[in-house]
Amino acid sequence: MDISEFLRRADAVADAARAALAALAPDTRPDAAKGALNAATGDELAALRAALPALPHADRRAAGQAFNRLNQAIAALVEEFEAAQRQRATAPVLDLSMPARESWRGAKHPVTLVIEEIEAIFRELGFSVALGPEAEHAWYNFGALNFPADHPAMEMHDTLYLGDETLLRTHTSPVQVRTLQRFAPPVRVLIPGNVYRRDFFDATHAPAFAQIEGLAVDEGISFVDLKATLAEFARRFYGGTRRVRFGPSYFPFTEPSAQMDVEVDLQDGRGLRWVEILGCGLVHPAVLEAAGLDSERYTGWAFGMGPARIAMSRHDLPDIRLLYDADVRFLEQFAR
Ligand code: DAH
Repeated sequence: MDISEFLRRADAVADAARAALAALAPDTRPDAAKGALNAATGDELAALRAALPALPHADRRAAGQAFNRLNQAIAALVEEFEAAQRQRATAPVLDLSMPARESWRGAKHPVTLVIEEIEAIFRELGFSVALGPEAEHAWYNFGALNFPADHPAMEMHDTLYLGDETLLRTHTSPVQVRTLQRFAPPVRVLIPGNVYRRDFFDATHAPAFAQIEGLAVDEGISFVDLKATLAEFARRFYGGTRRVRFGPSYFPFTEPSAQMDVEVDLQDGRGLRWVEILGCGLVHPAVLEAAGLDSERYTGWAFGMGPARIAMSRHDLPDIRLLYDADVRFLEQFAR
């Protein structure tokens, strides 16, 4: 063996060592890895070591250095292999083939969607949004709204009182008076909010539910404004897909009073049926006076609607309780 063959074979051993380690499974135990390395390089290393003393004196130094470099290179490869193993042992396992977890996007409740839709329609008609407290004073909830002193709605068994004079509001109408006390006419407001009644849950009632109140007060407002605005609302909301009708009604805080019904299929085989979705009327002069307005000068109209009932009519739902069950299998049909 001459020096050039010695150097060529030393390079070949380094390549063989690299290839042997690269061919191992990443989790090969250290002793098995050393065994594989020995098998690939041991004989040739021994042959090179044995050839060293037989080289011509002038080449021996260069050959010895090459042999040392070869051993260092193999040791470095072993260290690299073991370091990669140590790192793999502590690194989190990332399996790129694992199917992604299903994620919850969340969505607005169908009643919330209806409220937002109604707000958008009335905003286009010139209304702004006002809010009032859910814990209300009896005067705002009843007295200012012209309820007679013996009205059954005021009784303990109908109303959730918090104290002698405070209660959970039974409707959003008290915010009519609060708004008129704060803002001079012309007033056009939409008042969404939750209301509470000591009612039992049934297919069309809930003890806590959302309402949307509307109020328009100015000089010269008449029943024509009420009917035209609510008809326009129904036309925009239902897009002509549902028939609506007006009928007479009674509320202490309106005179005259009316209601609007919409045709709904409650999915009980009996076909379309009229369901009341709002009460309305011209604001009673006593209410304007209670709010401090001159009822000779100002007139107004108002309505109160139930967005859950309206959601029932929009989607032909058979039972209002579906909207309170928080059953995602039902609710996700309406997610946008
Ligand atoms: N406050 C009434 C209720 O809860 C609904 C209502 C009827 C509101 C007529 C009004 C109205 O503003 O004019 O049953």
